[in-house]
Amino acid sequence: MHSHQQKILVIDFGSQYSQVIARRIRECGVYSEIVPWRIGDDWIRDFAPLGIILSGGPESTLGTDSPKIPPCVFDLGVPVLGICYGMQAMALQFGGAVESSKHREYGAATVNLKQTCRLTQGIEDRYQDGSLEAQLDVWMSHGDRVTAIPAEFTAVGVSTNSPYAIIANDDKGYYGLQFHPEVTHTPQGQRLIERFVHDICGCASLWTLSNIIEESLAKVKETVKGEQVLLGLSGGVDSAVVAALLHRAIGKQLICMFIDTGLLRHEESTKVMDVFSKNLGVRVIAIDASEHFYAALKGVSDPEEKRKVIGRVFIEIFERESKALGDIPFLAQGTIYPDVIESAHASDGAHVIKSHHNVGGLPKDMKFKLVEPLRELFKDEVRKMGLELGLPYDMVYRHPFPGPGLGVRILGKIHPEYVRILREADHIFMSELKAQGWYDKVSQAFAVFLPVKSVGVVGDARQYDYVIALRAVQTIDFMTAHWAHLPYELLDIVSNRIVNEVSGVSRVVYDISGKPPATIEWE
Ligand code: XMP
Repeated sequence: MHSHQQKILVIDFGSQYSQVIARRIRECGVYSEIVPWRIGDDWIRDFAPLGIILSGGPESTLGTDSPKIPPCVFDLGVPVLGICYGMQAMALQFGGAVESSKHREYGAATVNLKQTCRLTQGIEDRYQDGSLEAQLDVWMSHGDRVTAIPAEFTAVGVSTNSPYAIIANDDKGYYGLQFHPEVTHTPQGQRLIERFVHDICGCASLWTLSNIIEESLAKVKETVKGEQVLLGLSGGVDSAVVAALLHRAIGKQLICMFIDTGLLRHEESTKVMDVFSKNLGVRVIAIDASEHFYAALKGVSDPEEKRKVIGRVFIEIFERESKALGDIPFLAQGTIYPDVIESAHASDGAHVIKSHHNVGGLPKDMKFKLVEPLRELFKDEVRKMGLELGLPYDMVYRHPFPGPGLGVRILGKIHPEYVRILREADHIFMSELKAQGWYDKVSQAFAVFLPVKSVGVVGDARQYDYVIALRAVQTIDFMTAHWAHLPYELLDIVSNRIVNEVSGVSRVVYDISGKPPATIEWE
């Protein structure tokens, strides 16, 4: 059976957790997609899900223009699980009542299971002392709550602030959870989702890594046939996995282009060439365009202007070099599922999306047909695929690196000497993080070059040199982040090594700003 044959649809009401819901379903081995609530009945019927999950959302079901459940959802004859807003919308639709509560309930809560239902049977954290009632530890985040349930539903669970924390209609397979089973703060959440997708909706585990790879290889071969495909390799995870996948599917029909912007990290271009060209035998054309980029950036200090220049020069070189290769009909891109979701939601008008200024955002008028084999995958799935295709762990689990590279980590004007200093300092920081087991504990870490001079003493001599800032953050989604509490001993070693080993640096500082208000990058 094809991995898409049995699938679950997540209808999104704007929750920050919608992507997490879809990922949890996929962790059960079941394919899932997220669509905005306005998607339309025809699309939903064509998709033919075996079950539907209605997400939470920031709005109130009591508002005049509040998001609505698409009309066909309850006509399809499939189970439906409403989470938070989704539960409230479902309760209202069947004749229940929702009210605003004076107390917003946010954080950990305990749900007492007063009844049993197919969704929760045998799933509990403990039995309450004395009453022997089953209890679930859950994560709540809501203002409104259901205050009366429709006739055909049973009240299954109660929490202090939610008289209806779990409701069920076992005959129809309709369930409502006021809490969020998708977040890790609900310890039994994954079991509830598994119960829903496997036992209640009847989905088998067809979404497995081996199926995904096999189907992707077949699809690429069928699309590309005997023709050539061009891929811009950046050294980042997504383009690396595309390269490994395409190489396995079509071998020498794949031509990769690796443009060294002169703004890459320590030995990055050598590593990319080693992995792809030497180890995997991929055909890679490497272009050292450092001088070209430095010349175009000369005197430019505004961050957005730098991004524009880097993006423009990248495209110029890519176009020039690809023309030189003759007529290549296909262009491969490392678009992944979150990019697809963000643009779908942007066109829905419901969300403001983060603007990416990726180097390699190629113009639409380039005459290529696109191959985007990662379009359906979340980042963690892309990473697992990369390992399976033989890419080194280091490459697949590396921290994100912005498209404009070190160009946005040298504040103000870019000078080759600043690049050298930053590269060396960053390399020391990364090596120590790895050596002391901290690299994988932070989401992103890097050094920043500050073009200000500060006084220091080396030996007996007074030194007047540049400042390096270290940044390390922990985050789930990169939209908000905490600065990482790295051990003082580690910071001490890094700082000493940088000042002693990198000529031109007199001082090292550690950035302790959260996002918000600061962004992760300095520019
Ligand atoms: P900020 O600085 O906005 O960064 O908190 C959030 C995440 O996005 C990355 N980032 C970029 N990635 N081009 C990119 O491809 C860019 O111009 C860019 N700016 C920031 C940043 O590294 C972090 O992971």
